[in-house]
Amino acid sequence: MKVAIIGQGYVGLTISAFAGEFFEIVGFDSNFKIIDQLNEGISHIEGVDSATLQKWIKAGRYLATNRGSDIVDVDLVVIAVPTPLTEDRKPDLGFIEAACKTIGENVKRPVLIINESTSFPGTLRNYIKPAIEKYSPSPIAHLYAISPERVDPGRGDFNQKNTPRLFAGLTPEASAKTREFYSKFCDQLVEVSSPEVAEAAKLFENTFRQVNIALVNEFAQIAHSLGISVYETLDAANTKPYGFMKFTPSAGVGGHCIPVDPTYLAAIAEDHGAPATFIRRANEVNLEMSEYIVRRVVEDNGGNLQGKSVLVVGVAYKPNVADVRETAAELVIEHLRRKGAVVSWHDDVVGNWKGESSAPLDGADIAVVVTKHDGVDEKKILASAPYVFDTTGKVKGAKGL
Ligand SMILES: NC(=O)c1ccc[n+]([C@@H]2O[C@H](COP(=O)([O-])OP(=O)(O)OC[C@H]3O[C@@H](n4cnc5c(N)ncnc54)[C@H](O)[C@@H]3O)[C@@H](O)[C@H]2O)c1
Repeated sequence: MKVAIIGQGYVGLTISAFAGEFFEIVGFDSNFKIIDQLNEGISHIEGVDSATLQKWIKAGRYLATNRGSDIVDVDLVVIAVPTPLTEDRKPDLGFIEAACKTIGENVKRPVLIINESTSFPGTLRNYIKPAIEKYSPSPIAHLYAISPERVDPGRGDFNQKNTPRLFAGLTPEASAKTREFYSKFCDQLVEVSSPEVAEAAKLFENTFRQVNIALVNEFAQIAHSLGISVYETLDAANTKPYGFMKFTPSAGVGGHCIPVDPTYLAAIAEDHGAPATFIRRANEVNLEMSEYIVRRVVEDNGGNLQGKSVLVVGVAYKPNVADVRETAAELVIEHLRRKGAVVSWHDDVVGNWKGESSAPLDGADIAVVVTKHDGVDEKKILASAPYVFDTTGKVKGAKGL
């Protein structure tokens, strides 16, 4: 069976690596640089081994491409393209639309089309199917299904195989074929009664995290004002064996999912006249964390950062990945610069970002730890500046939340 995977990023390439054992994969991407790298057997995604990719290429089971002609004869298509927010923080289905155009214009016989991109309930039924039909030169009876992706890049314990996978087809035949596809490389499949339930479940999973992270971030501020340790208090609460789940405070939330998906849920809720006040406020609390942190740093440093050299340690949105999408570090840096600080950043996992390169981990007046990669030595962080503010709770001996 030949499978086209549209989008070869975190989600699409991860699926390609797992599915490559059973299927011939055409990795379709619009980025030439990524295509060239992938065809040379070089993975650009943490968790996807270049050796695995090379194995599939050697066996003739993997090709990266941006040519529509390479997907004409596929049996199945997976959509794994970005679903970001527009400038005014509304759902942006532009990449989905472009993927539908590629599929509609090139796939000439009936196939199963599975969407893995995260979007609001109704996207498969009311958006993807009509868009593909619009771009198909003649009517084709494709099957449609959704299986929201749950991959957590950089994570060792859970992967495509052992993470239960939700799915639903628009028809029973689509559901059956979707089960058949994923059962090759996924241990547990969970079928739900409609694509809308699967789409909503994915959004709710990440909204749950966004809201709980906001709650703990607010609590960190309360604990500080009360003069108690937020970490000790959380550990104490966490001794309760039921009804509590521990989240830890941070400079905010980043990545392509947690700061974005709840806004998709809020947008569709409001379109239907339902309130999403809690979700909206959680997003604001997390965004405001960067300002709070800079305020604390200013207070501890004589009320003034003018001309002081500040090193932000870790700009990736989470440890051990190079992903800087929606990273909280961006807002922290912005607030520090507004206060007149001379800001540089250290993150050798990221390397280059926004035209700047990772600076050495030393010689600053102030260091603010936003993300602590495992490979960064705690002692070196503490020695990098006379004052170190740690937002991660991992640098013992530093000031912190
Ligand atoms: N990254 C995650 O951890 C994660 C987890 C679960 C779900 N998701 C969801 O999966 C989807 C994909 O996310 P991602 O992290 O893989 O994104 P990504 O940015 O890592 O990868 C997307 C890829 O799609 C390509 N692309 C964009 N438009 C295209 C088009 N029209 N045709 C072909 N290729 C195109 C890009 O060049 C890029 O390589 C999103 O909806 C996201 O919310 C992501």
